[in-house]
Amino acid sequence: MRVKALVLCAGRGSRLRPLTHTRAKAALPVAGRPIWQHVFDYLARFGFEEIGVVVGPGQQELSDAVQRWPRQRVHVILQAEPGGIAHAVATARPFLADEPFLLYLGDNLTDADITPAIRRFQAAAPAALLTLHRVPNPREFGVATLEGDRVVGVVEKPTDPPSDLAVAGIYLFSPAVHAAIAGLRPSHRGELEITDAVARLLADGHLVLGHTLTGWWEDAGSAAGLLTANARLLASLPANIHPSAVLAEVAIEGPVQVGPGAELRRVRLKGPVVIGAGCRVTDSEIGPSTSVGDGAILAGVTVANSVLLPGCRLQGPALHLADSVVGAGAHVWARAGHPAALVVGDDAHLLIPQQRRQPRR
Ligand code: G1P
Repeated sequence: MRVKALVLCAGRGSRLRPLTHTRAKAALPVAGRPIWQHVFDYLARFGFEEIGVVVGPGQQELSDAVQRWPRQRVHVILQAEPGGIAHAVATARPFLADEPFLLYLGDNLTDADITPAIRRFQAAAPAALLTLHRVPNPREFGVATLEGDRVVGVVEKPTDPPSDLAVAGIYLFSPAVHAAIAGLRPSHRGELEITDAVARLLADGHLVLGHTLTGWWEDAGSAAGLLTANARLLASLPANIHPSAVLAEVAIEGPVQVGPGAELRRVRLKGPVVIGAGCRVTDSEIGPSTSVGDGAILAGVTVANSVLLPGCRLQGPALHLADSVVGAGAHVWARAGHPAALVVGDDAHLLIPQQRRQPRR
């Protein structure tokens, strides 16, 4: 398909601070690779060969990285101010020209097959097609009301949601959306909302279709969402142990990837687990659903359902982490403790002292 894709990565990532103080949210790793690479591969799967990436000020590292991506043609577009999703689309107008396009919010991850949505969009030529996903917490999203496969209403983060169908961050638009965006005013959060642009299309009598995604879908923009997306992606991990990795007294269950030059001694790996290049892991139990970034050093730790960024150092003798995100180069050291769920920023140093057991009530 020759439709262009526009991937929005400029968001400030406020729900993932402090990790997003030093990097774009889309650059955070899940299942061993930055979020944006999963997104680009997903788009390649459906034939999107040309991608515009909207970045914010201070995201030079991300913009350099995406431009080195060999698989698709990538154009970087700078959104100089955080003006919202519709503002990002308006900023990208020179790239989009007067053609239909796919809009992808860069913190969303899914394995859903969007072929039926693309076919429906091409056959029915609506002004917009929204992908939707049933969620238990619709108040946190844009929410659509459907009649058949027609969207008849859409509202952003409603206190009284009209349905449980969240707008899932993948949209197909005709160029009619640009006129709708041009007439928008900033919302109460000071942004031009794409949901308001869709509402305007509806008010102007345009056809808007909905397509409910099958499969999993996650907004990876929070620590909990990042960890769930990590677990989802790891679930289809092919096992692969690099021949240069050294494994001594290592017990392996389930699918495991170990990168080049990693050294593991007296370790139990409970897949799915990714261990990055050059990691040193001793006397530890890793997994399930855990990604360990390149060059991490783990000694005497138990880690489950977590994302550890490159170069972090976790040290026991008895550090138990679960549901945690640990920043690049951070150092967490525990003498003994109950399981902890932490979000640790880059280069942070944490010493967790021995805890006294609380008497049960
Ligand atoms: C945005 C959209 C919202 C959509 C959500 C999906 O929300 O405004 O309609 O449901 O993405 O992740 P935001 O993440 O900007 O709060």
